[in-house]
Amino acid sequence: MAKSLLSVEGLHAYYGKSHILHGISLSVGYGETVTMLGRNGMGKTTTLKSIMGILPSRQGRITFDGHDLMKTPAHRIPRLGIVYVPQGRNVFPELTVVENLLISGSGNHASGNLDVVFEAFPRLKGRERQLAGTLSGGEKQMLAIGRALVLKPKLLVMDEPSEGLSPKLITMVRESLIKIRREQGAGILLVEQNVKLALDVADRVYLIEKGGIKEEDTAAELREKNEVLLRYLGVKV
Ligand SMILES: Nc1ncnc2c1ncn2[C@@H]1O[C@H](COP(=O)(O)OP(=O)(O)OP(=O)(O)O)[C@@H](O)[C@H]1O
Ligand SMILES: [Mg+2]
Repeated sequence: MAKSLLSVEGLHAYYGKSHILHGISLSVGYGETVTMLGRNGMGKTTTLKSIMGILPSRQGRITFDGHDLMKTPAHRIPRLGIVYVPQGRNVFPELTVVENLLISGSGNHASGNLDVVFEAFPRLKGRERQLAGTLSGGEKQMLAIGRALVLKPKLLVMDEPSEGLSPKLITMVRESLIKIRREQGAGILLVEQNVKLALDVADRVYLIEKGGIKEEDTAAELREKNEVLLRYLGVKV
């Protein structure tokens, strides 16, 4: 098997005494888009926080591009080439749009080309000096994705980018994920509840329930498995 960009093996995670993740294993190949789908409270965000080192109470193996993430302090992980967009479209609210685009999670400044963002998201044009906290929900999501365009990560990790967005903005999210992959060759780990978006962008899909991976399929295979989608997500495509 080809070497993975991100590899998670036997991951367990805890909040205090609550045992939340029960041996999650997943991988993302170089340039591959992988989605984790699951209902509310199943452990999607906990998986991402464990990978990013934000939730230290964990066991297992996590490697990224030759680095052992279990031994890497959380503040160093973005520097390895991961952009993490947390649930709730986090931007730095007290910084302007441009400042958000130029600062990476580790405090390093990017010298990136901002035009690519304003080209992709014309709505952000003319708002360069606006404080990010005052942007609309959809604009914040554009800015969060825009950071990935400027910082050019090896891996983009996104937690439910479609949450609370109109169908039109979900289309915008889909197009930008496809663009980031095609033009930058980035690997993408996307957590979603929106099945259509997940299947449209992903090569492979993991279904998570109660802190465990229940099924792994290619997106093409999963499209044909309505009973699986119904069982784990309560929807058909
Ligand atoms: N800080 C915390 N302390 C205690 N329990 C937590 C904490 N954060 C999450 N949990 C619990 O861990 C479980 C998994 O939560 P998680 O946020 O990973 O779910 P999720 O799959 O991301 O759900 P959603 O789709 O609603 O965002 C839930 O039962 C949740 O209540
Ligand atoms: Mg979540």
